[in-house]
Amino acid sequence: MRLTDHERAMLDGGHGEAAARAMDLLVRYGEALGAERLVETRNVAGAFNASTPSVREIAEDSLDRVFSELNLDSDDVIEIPHVAVPTCQLITGIDNDNFATQGVDPELADLQLRSEQYLGKRGINLMCTCTPYQVGNVPVMGEHCAWMESSAVIYANSVLGARTNVEGKESTGAAALTGRIPYWGLHCPENRFAQHLIRVETEVGDMAEWGVLGYFTGFAVEEEIPAFEGLTDQPSLVKLKHFGAAAASSGGVELYHMPGITPEAASLDAAFGPNARPEPAVYGAAERRRTWERLQNASDRKLDFVMLGCPHNSIEQMALIAELLDGKRIHSDTELWVHTPRAIRQVADRSGYTAIIEAAGGVVMSDTCPSISRKVPAGTRVIATDSAKQAHYLPAIAKVQGWFGSVEQCVNSAIAGEWLGVVQ
Ligand code: F3S
Repeated sequence: MRLTDHERAMLDGGHGEAAARAMDLLVRYGEALGAERLVETRNVAGAFNASTPSVREIAEDSLDRVFSELNLDSDDVIEIPHVAVPTCQLITGIDNDNFATQGVDPELADLQLRSEQYLGKRGINLMCTCTPYQVGNVPVMGEHCAWMESSAVIYANSVLGARTNVEGKESTGAAALTGRIPYWGLHCPENRFAQHLIRVETEVGDMAEWGVLGYFTGFAVEEEIPAFEGLTDQPSLVKLKHFGAAAASSGGVELYHMPGITPEAASLDAAFGPNARPEPAVYGAAERRRTWERLQNASDRKLDFVMLGCPHNSIEQMALIAELLDGKRIHSDTELWVHTPRAIRQVADRSGYTAIIEAAGGVVMSDTCPSISRKVPAGTRVIATDSAKQAHYLPAIAKVQGWFGSVEQCVNSAIAGEWLGVVQ
């Protein structure tokens, strides 16, 4: 791999032991991927915190050991300095305020707090969400990033036109300490052209509909890049967030082009570039219905748990849930957890939305989600969610039945204590 003088100096230890270990990791990782060089990044989003039972033992030694082992793949304990470039923490396993409701052991919650202090001292911004782009980390068009979390990566690449592959704990740890990441995959413009065409021949309206289209897309293109024609709706951040999270779940989609909506390709010709335009995969009324049915993994309508906020809710979503719950009461046999970044929760608190949701019997959670924490209310057998991504993962993770529907269907079902949704 070709290194600049500065990169060579980091590798040779001129910028300290941690940067040297990080460069060594990046060079080995890049060479395994076939990258010929590294690229500068000033935007890293990774997972650095110590909040899972498996790290409790190594954390007892020191938090430097946790970082060394999990984020630098090193058995030696390295003293970790301040990060070299802006870096944020993604979602964690524990809500610092609601850990008892989650069923998390207080000692583990305390370890997460200590870990946050450690990370904050080293300059890691504790956004603690899978949607950093909703709370201030908004990369610009063409910006090279090193992000983990598939739903955030597809949003950054497609909606913002930034450039990142789906990174891991180790590569984001090394990127944070060096400001470098291997130049390969979606960092390279020649790898960003569309390979599949999806022709939309039915209306795609609300957020759930966009999630269903995303779920169809992942199955249709797997890990490749689709472009779209025939879309008539102008989607919002929320709809594209759900679309991308679903496409990254049923497939491994990291980038898509919607001419007239996403910024990188203004036309289908620009989206395909030198690639031949293939025959389209059609998404019509029959495909929409089949995909909607595919998201239903339940038969029992008695509902134990409704999960909203995957990916983490925006403030408009919090306002809508409060409006739907205003003056109502969730059924006594059903739990409702609503997930949003802590920064958005503060706005929801001040706007009165949290109070309405809590008065109805719901819980507003931050920093985590059931798929990451692997925690659902005790005794849960049947869940419902407005997220195609959560409907895809949670039944398998929590060994429960799962219904999927719109936010209105989910909230009304939480009030009734039974699933009222119909396949649309
Ligand atoms: Fe975020 Fe958890 Fe969903 S990480 S995208 S809320 S599965």
